[in-house]
Amino acid sequence: MTQILTLSQHDVLSGQIEEHRADTPAALAALKAANAALDGGKSGQAVALATQALTSLALGPMTAASLILILRRTGDAAADPFTAQLLAQLAPMATDTARRINLGRLMLALHRKEEGAALLRAALAEKPTDRPAILALTAHLLQQGARADAVALWQPLFAAEPANGLLRLDLVRILALSGAEAEARQILDQAEPLCANCRAAFETAAAALRGTGAGMGAGMGTGTGAPQAAMTMEIFERFAPTYDATLEKLGNRGPEMIARMLTAMALPAKRQLAILDAGCGTGLCGPFLRPYAKRLVGVDLSPAMLAKARARKVFHVLDRCDLGSIGTYPKGPFDMVICADVLVYFGDLAQVFGNFAAVTKPGGWLLFTVEAAEAGWHLAPSGRHKHSLAYLEETLRKAGFGKPKQAEHNDLRHEFGKPVAGLGLAVQRLALFA
Ligand SMILES: C[S@@+](CC[C@H](N)C(=O)[O-])C[C@H]1O[C@@H](n2cnc3c(N)ncnc32)[C@H](O)[C@@H]1O
Repeated sequence: MTQILTLSQHDVLSGQIEEHRADTPAALAALKAANAALDGGKSGQAVALATQALTSLALGPMTAASLILILRRTGDAAADPFTAQLLAQLAPMATDTARRINLGRLMLALHRKEEGAALLRAALAEKPTDRPAILALTAHLLQQGARADAVALWQPLFAAEPANGLLRLDLVRILALSGAEAEARQILDQAEPLCANCRAAFETAAAALRGTGAGMGAGMGTGTGAPQAAMTMEIFERFAPTYDATLEKLGNRGPEMIARMLTAMALPAKRQLAILDAGCGTGLCGPFLRPYAKRLVGVDLSPAMLAKARARKVFHVLDRCDLGSIGTYPKGPFDMVICADVLVYFGDLAQVFGNFAAVTKPGGWLLFTVEAAEAGWHLAPSGRHKHSLAYLEETLRKAGFGKPKQAEHNDLRHEFGKPVAGLGLAVQRLALFA
């Protein structure tokens, strides 16, 4: 090894390690290039790029780890020296429980399984309800087949939040995804009295996933109707207080994609349109929609998200609505429907697109974003859905929309160091659709 891997910040372990906050643009560009080479099947080029970055750039720990993992695909021999070097630099920084937890998680990610698990166990003895530590150790134990130990890790969390059914459902989902269906169902029995619709949502998702052959039980909101609505509402009620800050950290670009498509349409910003922001959340799209709107209506399932949107004071009307249920929509018709980063919570979109068409004027616009899939739609391990362009075009056509006038392919955000491919579409409701 010719150069010592350096870190661009002193105290890199104190933050969330998924964040690339310690990184320079050059480091992030190198990671992106190496990932792109890997995704394009050019593993030799990916390894060369990763090695070059690891030996010549100042890197934050997550980027260094992501590059090391690229090397590890070609065998431990290439990755081990960099792993040792990175961990040796980070170990002296693990001066408190939170930092030790971050180091332990990083060790697990870098395949230093035993050391990482031991560090996390020690940290959990000091802080038994630390969720990131519990999640990381749960994944490790499930890989080892130690299901009972994994479930036991969650007991302090359950004791601290005895009425939180969604917390139990998180474990149900993890167990189900790892193939521990019997254990998942046991925890589901505990969750059900605390979480209306949990079981219905779980069974719907499990059946849908089995039907597509995609495996068991990840999504708790596939499709439309009460299960989708109940699950997503409960998630966003919890998420509302930290939503904006979290999305900013993740570099979320959904609203930005919508804004760009809107700008490209070159409409006069003269407050002329009736606009529906469908699933407005905390209202991130409101400020750039308002100049076009004579009437800006935001709807969402979650009262907590709507309360945040209300505080922005840019919407004329804010109301609750289930996008899967036409009877709950506000009075239209609208010149434009916007739907940023919402359809990921639905699997099949026929119903929702049909509802959008019903409230859009003939010739009116629908602008939305999804996470991109290669074909059809499927539920990703993140619990969100991905949809392909071909599936969207076909489902939009059946609902009465035309071919996309704009299709923007772009990264939506980063998850575990990898970009999440997004797709933004602008389509028009056909004037002569019966
Ligand atoms: C990731 S947020 C996006 C919010 C906003 N559009 C933005 O770009 O920031 C997803 C939103 O969709 C809402 N949502 C999910 N399912 C819904 C449904 N069936 N009806 C209405 N809103 C829904 C959630 O409550 C949440 O506020």
